[in-house]
Amino acid sequence: MQNEKRLRGVCQGKWALVTGASAGIGLALAKQLAEAGANLVLTARRRDRLEALALGLEKDHGVQTLTIPADLAEPAAPEELLAATEGAGLPVEILVNNAGFGYYGEFVKGDAAWQRTMVEVNCTAVVHLTRLFLPRMMERRRGYIMIVSSTASYQPVPYMSTYAATKVFDRFLAEALAYEACEYGVKVSALCPGPTESEFHEIAGTRNQFGRGRQSAEEVARMGLEGLIDGKHWVIPYRAGRAMVVMERFLPRRWISALAARAFRPEKSS
Ligand SMILES: NC(=O)c1ccc[n+]([C@@H]2O[C@H](COP(=O)([O-])OP(=O)(O)OC[C@H]3O[C@@H](n4cnc5c(N)ncnc54)[C@H](OP(=O)(O)O)[C@@H]3O)[C@@H](O)[C@H]2O)c1
Repeated sequence: MQNEKRLRGVCQGKWALVTGASAGIGLALAKQLAEAGANLVLTARRRDRLEALALGLEKDHGVQTLTIPADLAEPAAPEELLAATEGAGLPVEILVNNAGFGYYGEFVKGDAAWQRTMVEVNCTAVVHLTRLFLPRMMERRRGYIMIVSSTASYQPVPYMSTYAATKVFDRFLAEALAYEACEYGVKVSALCPGPTESEFHEIAGTRNQFGRGRQSAEEVARMGLEGLIDGKHWVIPYRAGRAMVVMERFLPRRWISALAARAFRPEKSS
């Protein structure tokens, strides 16, 4: 209750931009921000989903919305988002860099273009959007930026190698900017979910056994937003993930990679 009140205090009447708002964690974040009174800029590739979400948020929470279908693999997309928001007089005070996807399998069997696009969406677009919106927040001396990373960012992950590498990039970017930006009144936080209910696993092609014990996207979003307004530099909403991160501090990295390789090895990798 106390947290809801605090979130409302931060969000009421402000514009929040959520990337990847058409599904999973981004959808849950958009709904919770609207519940807290934020006006929403919703972006992802699937226009129909964004429009349905926007209608629902306006009706249920009385907030304003703007939907901008965009493919973040396109280098021009971040500038287009800036022009449609700040350029049109809508100051974005909360930026949620959430859009992303993964690939599960041997690195050499993954499509090369798909892996490159993963880096563009998970990393390049995050840098570009943050670089465009952060200076405006600094000028206003207030703002919030969430970058969605993963517990996969805490160790190399054989068979999800490129994905885990993109997520360590995201986490390090967020953790570093958390220091640079706080002097200007802007809070930056990395949200590091563990296995979460969403479309991610179907798209990445992960094995069924990763289905056990997935956390709900709603719980992940709630903990992420609480951490963001509390000024936490990173948030690990998954309890087992927190334990794993502590344990890994005491083990040689080769052992950790070997354990991850055992856990993630595809059943038939021939
Ligand atoms: N689910 C998990 O277990 C888990 C764990 C740790 C971290 N994460 C991270 O959480 C974030 C959200 O993933 P999720 O689990 O919610 O997966 P999801 O349900 O598949 O949602 C991914 C979102 O990203 C958008 N997206 C993907 N490619 C895009 C592109 N080229 N341009 C614009 N938008 C794009 C999708 O929208 P469109 O398809 O409509 O474009 C969708 O809205 C990701 O960064 C992921 O790495 C997930």
